[in-house]
Amino acid sequence: MRVLVTGGAGFIGANFVRRTVETRPDVDVVVLDALTYAGDERSLDPVRDDRLVGSADLVVHFAAESHNDNSLADPSPFVRTNVLGTFTLLEAVRRHDVRLHHVSTDEVYGDLALDDPGRFTESTPYDPSSPYSSTKASSDLLVRAWVRSFGVRATISNCSNNYGPYQHVEKFIPRQITNLLDGGRPKVYGAGQNVRDWIHVDDHNDAVWAIVERGAVGQTYLVGADGERSNLDVVGDLLEIFGRDRADYDLVADRAGHDLRYAIDATRLRTELGWAPRYTSFAEGIARTVDWYRDNEAWWRPAKARTEARYAAGGQ
Ligand code: DAU
Repeated sequence: MRVLVTGGAGFIGANFVRRTVETRPDVDVVVLDALTYAGDERSLDPVRDDRLVGSADLVVHFAAESHNDNSLADPSPFVRTNVLGTFTLLEAVRRHDVRLHHVSTDEVYGDLALDDPGRFTESTPYDPSSPYSSTKASSDLLVRAWVRSFGVRATISNCSNNYGPYQHVEKFIPRQITNLLDGGRPKVYGAGQNVRDWIHVDDHNDAVWAIVERGAVGQTYLVGADGERSNLDVVGDLLEIFGRDRADYDLVADRAGHDLRYAIDATRLRTELGWAPRYTSFAEGIARTVDWYRDNEAWWRPAKARTEARYAAGGQ
């Protein structure tokens, strides 16, 4: 099988490419990546010289502008990449009749109250809050329409927050880990009560393969690993790993429109496709992620100072 991976130099895409090349000798991979600030060719160094091909049996579409804070500062790249980019890709797979998997986010569903007993399911109505999540919601709707109107063979996954190696230092967990490695303090938005449903990036990418291989065309699958945690819980765990007091963080300016809580019900993925996460211990997954950032300072260091300068300018 020949797979074209869009956004294959980004965080989730690069982990998908490396894992695919390492575990699936029957799959050839080609990466299409705009190499914006969020894409880094060095994330593909371990597999760079492996099989590259020119045409595809499958496209896995990771490419996206993905950071909420950036979408508040300037929404235009989000509309271009997430909406127009997906439209362009849909026209290409329609023309060449290529199977597509579209990677999306649980943020299309908006947010939940902290005490809401429910979680997001495939039938939760779309209700995005930010420029970022509204452009991802738009891209999902385009995919659904191209399936129905043109018979495009596509599936969609909506996943919760990922963590693991090669994630940009602008995101919550890598920002705090690298602050701690520099001897600084974690920076927590608002009161830190917001809840995210964490999943290791390898578990997400295993789900993508399960959907590609066993999913029904036209279907949407939610991906999550029952990993709900408040931001303060995550920061406390990180501080403990570094031998610091759990309260040794700074509260900083909140994000505009900040979603309170995400939570995924992945029953369809688990029961229909037999997927299950391998990283069931957040403590273990996060400790390994800390080790990766400690061992790979050369990868993250170049982006750190300018990322912190941007946050500092916004009081964060
Ligand atoms: O739910 C899936 C989504 O998860 C993906 O679609 C997005 O692409 C991805 O960026 C992520 O969105 P979040 O906005 O939840 O992730 P972020 O890492 O920016 O922030 C996680 C939480 O931590 C959120 O409540 C904001 C908070 N935060 C973030 C940063 C960067 C802080 O408290 N301090 C920080 O320094």
